[in-house]
Amino acid sequence: MRQKLVAGNWKMNGTASALTELGNLAYSCKSAKSEVLICPPSTLIYRASNVCVDSKVEIGAQDCHSATYGAHTGDLSAEMLHDAGATAVILGHSERRADHAETDKLVRAKATTAIAAGLTAIICVGETLVEREAGRTMDVVRAQLEGSLPDDSSGSKVVVAYEPVWAIGTGKVPTVEQIAEVHSGLRASLVKRFGGETAKAIRLLYGGSVKSSNAKEIFAVAEVDGALVGGASLKAADFAPIVSALDASA
Ligand code: 13P
Repeated sequence: MRQKLVAGNWKMNGTASALTELGNLAYSCKSAKSEVLICPPSTLIYRASNVCVDSKVEIGAQDCHSATYGAHTGDLSAEMLHDAGATAVILGHSERRADHAETDKLVRAKATTAIAAGLTAIICVGETLVEREAGRTMDVVRAQLEGSLPDDSSGSKVVVAYEPVWAIGTGKVPTVEQIAEVHSGLRASLVKRFGGETAKAIRLLYGGSVKSSNAKEIFAVAEVDGALVGGASLKAADFAPIVSALDASA
C-alpha cells in the first residue's frame, strides 16, 4: 500500500508571518493519517521545520542545484536544504521548466543529487493546453517521465506529480477520466521501466487547482495517491480540509 501524500507548494509566497499559518496547519493535522508536506520558499525552511518539529507536517524545498557544491551564485544545494530541515524537494515544476528553461536532463541530474543528499524528489510532469489540444498529452508526459526520473528511482526516493500546465492557478481541472487516463498511463510507464514491484511503490500525485471543493472526487480516481497543491496550501483553513479528504479516501 502506498502512503498517501498531500504536499503544499507555497511558490514565491510567504515571509515570517506565514509561520503562524504553518503552526495552525500543524495543529489541524495532528491526527492526519496521510503524509503532509509543506514546501515554503527556501528562506523559511529552517524556521518552518522548527515550527513543525514533533508534528505530522514535514518541510520540503521547491528546487535545488544539480551540483553538490561550488561556484553557483544564488543557488542552493540539496545538502544545504536537507541541513536546513527539508526532507523532500519539488523538481521540474512547470514554472521552473518555463522560467528557467529546465530540461528533463537537468531535472534528472537534480533528482540524482537530491536523492543522494537524503531528500525525496517530487518530480513534476504535465502538458500545456496546446499539447493537450493536439492530442499529445500522453506522449509529452511519458517523455518527461522517462527523461526526468533517475534509473535508480524507487518509492522511497521519488514521487511523481502530474500537473497539467493549463490547470495550474487557473481554476480549471481535468475531468476525472482525464486524470485517470494520465495516471494509469504513468503507472504503466513506471512498470515498464522499473518493474512491477518498484513501480507500484512510487506515488503519483495530481496537481492543478486542487481545492477542498474538488479534492474528494480527485482522490477517488484510481492511481491518485494524493495531491500537490499551490494556492490552497497557503492558508491552514484551505489546506486542512484537503488533508482530511485524502485521509477519508485512504
Ligand atoms: P494551484 O494549486 O495553485 O493550481 O498550483 C498547483 C501547483 O503548481 C502546485 O505545484
